[in-house]
This record gives sequence, C-alpha cells and structure tokens, in this order.
Amino acid sequence: MALSDDFLYRLRDAADAEQVVSPYVRLKRRGKTLVGLCPFHSEKTPSFTVYPESNSFYCFGCGAGGSMINFIQRIENLDYIDAVRTLADRFGLQMPEDGFDDTLSERRKRILSANRDAARFFYDTLFSENGKAGLDYWLKRGITVQTIKHFGLGYAPGGGSALTDYLHKKGYTFTELVDANLSRKSTRSNGYYDNFRNRVITPIIDVRGNVVAFGGRVLDDSKPKYVNTSDTLVFKKGQGVFALNFAKNAATDRKLIITEGYMDAISLHQAGFTNTIAGLGTALTSEQARLISRYADEVILSYDSDEAGQAATKKAISIFSQTGVKVKILKITGGKDPDEIIKEYGKERFKSIIDSGANDTEYRILTEREKYDVSTDDGKLEFLRAAVKVLATVDDGIEREIYASRLADEFSVSKDAVLTQVNDTIKSNNKKREYERNRKITQESISPRDTVNPERRDHLKAARAEERLISILLNNPDFYRKISDKISPKDFITEFNGRVYSVISSRLEEGKSIEIDFLSGSFSPDEMGRVSKFIIDGSRTVGSVGECEDCIKVILEEKNNGAKVRPSSLSDDEWAKKMNELKMKKNT
Ligand code: GTP
Ligand code: MN
Repeated sequence: MALSDDFLYRLRDAADAEQVVSPYVRLKRRGKTLVGLCPFHSEKTPSFTVYPESNSFYCFGCGAGGSMINFIQRIENLDYIDAVRTLADRFGLQMPEDGFDDTLSERRKRILSANRDAARFFYDTLFSENGKAGLDYWLKRGITVQTIKHFGLGYAPGGGSALTDYLHKKGYTFTELVDANLSRKSTRSNGYYDNFRNRVITPIIDVRGNVVAFGGRVLDDSKPKYVNTSDTLVFKKGQGVFALNFAKNAATDRKLIITEGYMDAISLHQAGFTNTIAGLGTALTSEQARLISRYADEVILSYDSDEAGQAATKKAISIFSQTGVKVKILKITGGKDPDEIIKEYGKERFKSIIDSGANDTEYRILTEREKYDVSTDDGKLEFLRAAVKVLATVDDGIEREIYASRLADEFSVSKDAVLTQVNDTIKSNNKKREYERNRKITQESISPRDTVNPERRDHLKAARAEERLISILLNNPDFYRKISDKISPKDFITEFNGRVYSVISSRLEEGKSIEIDFLSGSFSPDEMGRVSKFIIDGSRTVGSVGECEDCIKVILEEKNNGAKVRPSSLSDDEWAKKMNELKMKKNT
C-alpha cells in the first residue's frame, strides 16, 4: 500500500476509536473496553467491542473487526483509500499526495457533484418559466414554498435532454451522467437524454448531506407514478432513508416516525412532525433498520392502510424485532396514508393517532382477531390459541401479564390458564430453538463454511496451529527472530493464513510495527475481521517461543504428511489432546 507508516501512525493517534465509533453505535464502558449493539449484524445484546488501547474493534457475534479504517470501510461502504480519506478529513489530517489508485473514489465524487448540480438545476427550473407545471403541482398538493426550499424540491422539465445538456456543458462527461443515472443513452440516435422528464423531483440526501439520488413523480395519473434513481456507486435503494438528515436531529427523544413514501414524509415534516423518515419504495431492509437504530429506540410505523401497507408493516415489525428498537403501529382510518389524513382532518388528528398508537403486540393480536369470528365458541378458541402464540414471542414478562389479563377479562377465562399456555409455548419454542442451534453447530462442525479461509475445514489441524502461531506473534512480535528461520510463508498449509504470516513476517523483517493499523490495508474488511480475532485470541492467553515451536512442528508435520492434498482427520478434541501432549513434553 502506498500509504506510509508515518501517516498511518498519525491517523491512528488522531482517530480515537471511541470518537470514530460513537456516532454509529451507542457505546457503554465495560472495564477497559466499550461495548454496544453491533452495526454489522442484528442483535439484541451487545457483542460489538471497541478496544481503546489498540484503537480497534471486534464483534464476537459476527466476526467483524479491525482498525478504525476498517470500521469506516464497512459502515460507510467505502474502499480502503476512501475510508482513510474520510477519517483524515474528520480528524484534520492532510492526505499524502503520492499516487494510490483513486479511480473509484474519483468516480464517486463526480457522481455526487453531478447530483448536487442536478438538484440545483431542478430547483431553479421549478421557479422558472419552464417549471410552472411543477410548481403548480406542489402548491396544489398543499406543499408550501418554504417546504420546497427546505427539502430542495424541484421540477424536471419535459422535452428530452435539458439537464443532460446543461450538465455536459458544465464539464461532466456523458459516461459520468449515465453513471449517476441522470442520463440515458438513446437506442435510436447517438445522443443522450434525461432520465427524469416532466416530473416533480425530490432529492434524496444522506445523513452526511450528500445528494445521493432523486425521486420523480408524474404530475397526473399516468404510469409509472414514480421513477427513482436506480443503484449507482453512491446509492443503494435498500440502504437509503429519506429525511434522516433532518429527522435525526429532531428525534431528541430517540423516536422516529416511518412512512411508506417520501411524499408522506414531506407532508408530515410540513405539519411539524419533523422526526419523520421514509423508505425509498422498497420493503424495509435490515440495513435500513440498522441505520435507523443508530438514531432511534422506538419507531412509529405509519404505513398506508391498504393491503400493501399492511404487508409492509408486518415485514418491518419482523425486521425491527432483530434489533433493540421498539415498534409502535399506527392504525390509520379515514384515509389511505398520513398525507391524506393530514389534508382531510388536520395535524391534530394525526397527533392523536400517534398518541394512541398501538405497540406491535397489540397490533399483532388485533390482526389475529380479524381472522376469526369471535362470536362463536370455535372462533373464540382459535383466536385465543393464536393470541397465546403471539404472547409467547413477547420478551417482557409484565407485558405478557397485561395482555393475558385483558384476554382473560374479555373472554371470561382465567388469566392463569392463559399464562400457563403462554409459558408452555415459550418452553417449547425454546426447545425448538435449542435443537435448531445444536443442529446448526453439528452441521457446521461437519462442514463449516469459512469464506475467509475456505481451506480451513479440510486442514483443521494445520490451520489451528497456523492460527495459534500467528496469534502469538501478533501479540509478541519479539518472538519472531527466534523462530523466523524455522518456518516460511510457503510452509503454511492454508493460503489465507500463509498470506497473513507473509505480511507479518515481511514487515517484521524490515523492523516495522505489526499493529492492526498497519495491516488493515493489506486485507479485505472480512479478512481483517479474522486478523482481529487472531489478535484477541492471542491476547487472552500467554504465549511462549516454545509454543510457537510446537505450532511450527505441527504445521511442518502436516506438510510432510502431504496435508496439502489430504484433509485432516483429527477432531477438535483429538487436536486439543495432541497439543497438550506436546506441551507436556516441552515442560518436562
Ligand atoms: P402520492 O400518490 O403522490 O401521494 O404518493 P404516495 O406516497 O401515496 O405513493 P404510494 O403509496 O403509491 O407509494 C409509496 C412509495 O412507493 C413511493 O414513495 C415510491 O417510492 C414507491 N412507488 C410507488 N409507485 C411507484 C412506481 O410506480 N415506481 C416506483 N419505482 N416506485 C413507486
Ligand atoms: Mn399519498
């Protein structure tokens, strides 16, 4: 990598782990470390750990880990150099000038810049002679000029290539405009034309204030109603969240309202509900849920009352249940969506809907209830059975009691009977889950799929020795010169571990540091997770030169046995026994 150690040292000293991570993860101190809910997988109890001493992180749940550069790489979806640049910018360091490969990051920058200019163009057009139809549309919808300014709303003129021509004159190449999904190449002529034509435009702005995409709506009833930017280098539909840039600051109580479309969100903001966000026309994804969970402990789902909206609500409940975020569901009656409620009945009505919002347990019980005819004995029984199943998924015991009481009162059954049923169901669910877990573990030990080191499972014994050796070295670099002549990277059985050893040993040969920051450019983010694990594993036990030699002996033995062609047959236990025997020999 072209970045000098000197620069990486300065970056590490400046980019303090706690400061880097805390905008994304709520951290709690635990001894020498900080812990929080992992932003890279869904979990309810924290296994994401920040190590201030080494300025690194590791998640014991999903195995993500590495330096702060790797953290930014993963969380912002950036390549290595862009992640370094982001950190350097944030902590006021000048990037070194020497030529690393910059093409991808340059292309991203050009797209963001083209988007910004396009947003300006749409906005200016809206207030020009050509934009009259667009402005009329917004005003007719009840959107005020102030709201238009706030969100930078605009209008894409009809015709064919007004924006494309404008941006091309400004210096953007056609390739860049196609990359940004602002223009398309004509199939008939050699020319390029605008992706958005005769539509009102809503820019999608991310939490850092970049214009990452656009949504365009027709002015009448023609189809398709909406055209949105498709995926580009700076935008993935399933990851974007509309208005989070505003709502995150408004949600001081860590509550966010989520609507199905950005039109609803705009309308709610205008009505004063400035903690509103919207998805971008796809069902809620777990990436979006994790992004949202950085800013909210509770979300109020405010989807349309139609069937699609209700299906989306169910999906969202299930996705949020994987996170620590609580869910409330609005029962919208008297209108299709929040925008219509506000227009028809005013914001007070919407406020009262919010205040009376059901939580997800209530919602799920209500949904079950609608399926049965509870005026008959059979229907009553069926419904109670379904309600018990719902209650069995509620974590909170008091909440279960409350609903059990309500059901008991309404259907004149005993509360204890309901609770007994619920507890039995919980027990049986737990059993099922445990069985599933065991089955998975067994299956994994038969055929563990290891994407970082795919050869590991066929050479378990050698791989473990390699990993232990690497772990010890990472924590005791001074052992290196005592063992360096006993093994070389090409003796390693598995390619990945060999590569790690090769990076470490060539740095140590040159007398350089092998701390995590200096390794993080040599491996992918996934691979860095594994390297972090090696470091952490090694820091938990005391290693010795003797143990390194034992590991080397195992690796070389395996190599001589032809391990590179024959899979290892030792089980975990056999391996542990072997290692202990070797250790004992050493000590006597
Ligand atoms: P209005 O009719 O303008 O009030 O919009 P709405 O927000 O009520 O629209 P609707 O409930 O139909 O759609 C909600 C969201 O789904 C929109 O914000 C879009 O993101 C998406 N969507 C709806 N129709 C289309 C479509 O035809 N194409 C695409 N790509 N997305 C759509
Ligand atoms: Mn609507």
